[in-house]
Amino acid sequence: MRAFAPGRVNLIGEHTDYNDGLCLPFAIARGVTVTAEPLAGGDEIEAQALDLAQQDRFSLGADGGGAALPPHTWCRFVRGAAAELRVEGMEPVPCRLEIRGDVPRGAGLASSAALSIALCLALCAVAGAEPPGRLALARLCSRIENDWCGQQTGLLDQLASLYGRRGHAVRIDLRGPLLRSVELDLGGHRLATLDSGASRTLATSGYNDRRRECRRAAAALGLESLRDAGADTLSDLPEPLRRRVRHVLSENERVDATVAALRRGDLADVGRQLDASHSSLRDDYEVSAPEVERAVAACRSAGALGARIVGGGFGGSVLALFPPGAEPPGGAVRVEPGPGARLL
Ligand code: GLA
Repeated sequence: MRAFAPGRVNLIGEHTDYNDGLCLPFAIARGVTVTAEPLAGGDEIEAQALDLAQQDRFSLGADGGGAALPPHTWCRFVRGAAAELRVEGMEPVPCRLEIRGDVPRGAGLASSAALSIALCLALCAVAGAEPPGRLALARLCSRIENDWCGQQTGLLDQLASLYGRRGHAVRIDLRGPLLRSVELDLGGHRLATLDSGASRTLATSGYNDRRRECRRAAAALGLESLRDAGADTLSDLPEPLRRRVRHVLSENERVDATVAALRRGDLADVGRQLDASHSSLRDDYEVSAPEVERAVAACRSAGALGARIVGGGFGGSVLALFPPGAEPPGGAVRVEPGPGARLL
């Protein structure tokens, strides 16, 4: 049995998902593949991360191996997947898992969502069980990140990987959530990512800090979520909460402005939205880094119509839109919307 889950690029709508907001991601061709073979006898799962040349094994006992968490993060994903599937009523069976991926880790392209989804699909397939529906599976995988790996991420990455569709991005309204396919007709323009190479050592703590700030801001405004915040309430907030909320509100607007620009075939405006998103993420949300700024500058001097940091930030990749004839800088990788997670 082989399962594949793609990484994603978020065209626009960053740090909005955990605020019940809007985003516009698409699944990419690169991702994580998990092969699962049943083991006769025993009660263990053996897992190998081929790209890292690391192994793990654990018993499918009551706690799914959770009592003694292993040092490597990828092992937590495997144990978390087995345990969370059990919570959903699926009994994992003893098996050997082989994991390999071609989506770079820590580059802001959702390698961890791809890993957890591919693991769950492979574990279900080898057990002969139907996987949970896509929305339930997205939630389950986000619990793996939150509860097993300490990363308080939202649902953007999992939904993007599961609902990928060739030639389309998906507009996600996290309130609901409601998903709608949006044709990504770039009329000869190209999207490419450029890895900034910045270390993401601060990523987990920085990301979780931003989530806390959003919760504090919502509480200060007496709201359940920042989706309900109006621009007129910004002045009631102290800094830096005011800047954080201004980013979330303006970013939601940019998602729909981008959908409208795509519908009109106005790629220059898509580029402007990307640039505005980047300024907001850099100045209001403060999730950029010097290396990221250099990558953005490199894309712009190569003729990009717009460029911005993509994903959780504090390093990772930049996404840029290049018009016909412009040559992306060295190291940039073209990205196109592809199909979602599936059994191979
Ligand atoms: C990471 C998280 C997502 C989302 C983005 C920022 O990719 O996994 O849930 O919050 O950051 O938009």
